[in-house]
Amino acid sequence: MSNTVKIGKSEVTSTPLGLGTNAVGGYNLFPNLNDDDGLNIVKTGIENGITLLDTAYVYGLGHSEELVGQAIKDFDRHKLVIATKGAQDMSTGEEVVRNDPKFITQQVENSLKRLGTDYIDIYYLHFPDKDTPKAEAVGALERLREQGKIRAIGVSNFSLDQIKEANADGYVDVVEDQFSLVHQDLGAETLPYLKQNNISFVPYFPLASGLLTGKYQHDVSFPKDDIRSGMPIFQEPLYSQILKAVDTVRPIAEAHDATVAQTVLAWYIKNPLISVVIPGAKKPDQVVANAKAMTVELTDKEFKQIDDAFETFK
Ligand SMILES: NC(=O)c1ccc[n+]([C@@H]2O[C@H](COP(=O)([O-])OP(=O)(O)OC[C@H]3O[C@@H](n4cnc5c(N)ncnc54)[C@H](OP(=O)(O)O)[C@@H]3O)[C@@H](O)[C@H]2O)c1
Repeated sequence: MSNTVKIGKSEVTSTPLGLGTNAVGGYNLFPNLNDDDGLNIVKTGIENGITLLDTAYVYGLGHSEELVGQAIKDFDRHKLVIATKGAQDMSTGEEVVRNDPKFITQQVENSLKRLGTDYIDIYYLHFPDKDTPKAEAVGALERLREQGKIRAIGVSNFSLDQIKEANADGYVDVVEDQFSLVHQDLGAETLPYLKQNNISFVPYFPLASGLLTGKYQHDVSFPKDDIRSGMPIFQEPLYSQILKAVDTVRPIAEAHDATVAQTVLAWYIKNPLISVVIPGAKKPDQVVANAKAMTVELTDKEFKQIDDAFETFK
């Protein structure tokens, strides 16, 4: 199994499994983690061989980036891949999505400061705005790349048409968007397009916010301030349908002496359309367990069995 993947046309290389940090730094999607726990999660990831850390300005309005910056001080910066994102202007107190070159250039400078580093390995436009021509926004990132401030250019939550427009000059290295075994809308058109154009793909919510770990049985409920309380995947009839598909992963996991979560993560790692899988975590032991997915090597038959079990979500 290859232990490194290359990001698009850039020189950035990463482990095939990274760490998602939207629970680190108080994004308020979930009941908050405190800073010590957040820091510990990031450090545990690095100590367990994960090189890519996925953060964003909007995760705690800069606080996730600050904690990631604090955590990486104890490690060799050059071995790490820091991915962050920006597009939200909060200066009026309301969120306004902006991709204009002036704003994005300033956002990159702000992220560099919060991360305490002089370069960002992957910088994503977090969301598309309505007005800025996409190639113009990406052109601003290209200039930052020429200055050595970022090393690879990404876009996130862009439609296929928007990706094509953004990549008019061939500068886009990586796309991040929602994709999982239970959310495969991008599988038919977008992922093959990215592959053909040497653009890496990073799926978010790979564990379907924990549902694909196999830890849920029947009857689940979340507090109101937890984003999962409103997610359709945790409501019937979808919920039971997913639990049934997850059951098909159990014997495959057992055959590898692995957990369901590790086996699901191994499915993404083996998937040729996927570059780096970035599961999030709320506890260090989840990070330790998830990092071990990099040692689980599925056979072609097992890959297909899992693929088939989730066919209905394509
Ligand atoms: N670009 C974007 O717009 C965007 C949007 C969303 C997310 N993201 C990125 O994608 C990353 C991943 O998404 P996510 O973290 O929201 O969802 P996820 O990876 O699908 O699920 C992560 C959650 O599953 C549970 N979990 C993780 N490992 C586990 C294990 N081994 N055993 C049992 N439970 C486990 C934890 O929650 P519990 O302990 O609470 O169950 C954890 O917070 C984010 O952190 C973020 O970096 C990007």
